[in-house]
Amino acid sequence: MSKKHKEIVQKQFTKTAEAFTTFAVRDTPEILKEKVEFVKAQPTDLALDVACGPGAFAVAIAPRVQFSWGVDLTDEMLRRARAFQAEKQALNAAFVRGEAEMLPFRDGGFDLVACQCSFHHLPKPAQVLAEMVRVAKPAGRLLIIDPLGPESDAKFELYNRIEVLRDPSHTLTVRLTEYLRMFDEAGLEILRQALRRRQRSFNNWMLRAGHAPGTKRYLETRELLEGSIAGDKAGFSAQLQGDDIQIVHNEGMFLLTRKNSDGASVRP
Ligand SMILES: C[S@@+](CC[C@H](N)C(=O)[O-])C[C@H]1O[C@@H](n2cnc3c(N)ncnc32)[C@H](O)[C@@H]1O
Repeated sequence: MSKKHKEIVQKQFTKTAEAFTTFAVRDTPEILKEKVEFVKAQPTDLALDVACGPGAFAVAIAPRVQFSWGVDLTDEMLRRARAFQAEKQALNAAFVRGEAEMLPFRDGGFDLVACQCSFHHLPKPAQVLAEMVRVAKPAGRLLIIDPLGPESDAKFELYNRIEVLRDPSHTLTVRLTEYLRMFDEAGLEILRQALRRRQRSFNNWMLRAGHAPGTKRYLETRELLEGSIAGDKAGFSAQLQGDDIQIVHNEGMFLLTRKNSDGASVRP
């Protein structure tokens, strides 16, 4: 990752740490629960959450595993993750600073390596996937959860333009076809998958990125989104609702293992 992109990520997630933490650890408990259940963690598992942010997933999964690690680039996020860990008295969890592209862990140490809602911030997602494979045990599982970009080229371009305008640390929302290609190239097979429509308030989504209604960036993003409503030109399924706009992120959830690994015990 370039020094410039690293600084953009740290700046963005330091600025928005409070709003994002509220969303991740307080506003979405039922979604978090669904994600924890999706992985069917084992009590012996050593788990790692990559780009863990304020620790929502790492802390939520801690009671189901032997030990839960979180790694993130942004100190302010790690500070909040440790505060959430203390609040939940999750003694079997720890948070460290590090880059997803160069994880500060040895080869083959984890039963479960997760990365959720962060792939769209990565300049080189395939490199991070390879790192996640590297630190997983031979029969370890990987969990990737992230919005999926539209398959239509025109929608894909506008969708990502809107995302980057809202949040400069956004790189690209990967499409399902590209994920499937990446998984194949990384020697992975899918154990379990799901697609979820996450409906969001545009106004709250903008606030989480640090833009209150009426600010320059809010207005620019809104203009681009509103222009996409007729014909759903950006693939957000956007609909006006009073002062707000309802949008949808189509979230993919993938539980993976190496092809030919002994993942039999976790198959559905
Ligand atoms: C949208 S937040 C998601 C946090 C968490 N996974 C969640 O869902 O609550 C993205 C997080 O990714 C981190 N991040 C972005 N790029 C990273 C990288 N290359 N290495 C490590 N962390 C990164 C940011 O610091 C931020 O905390």
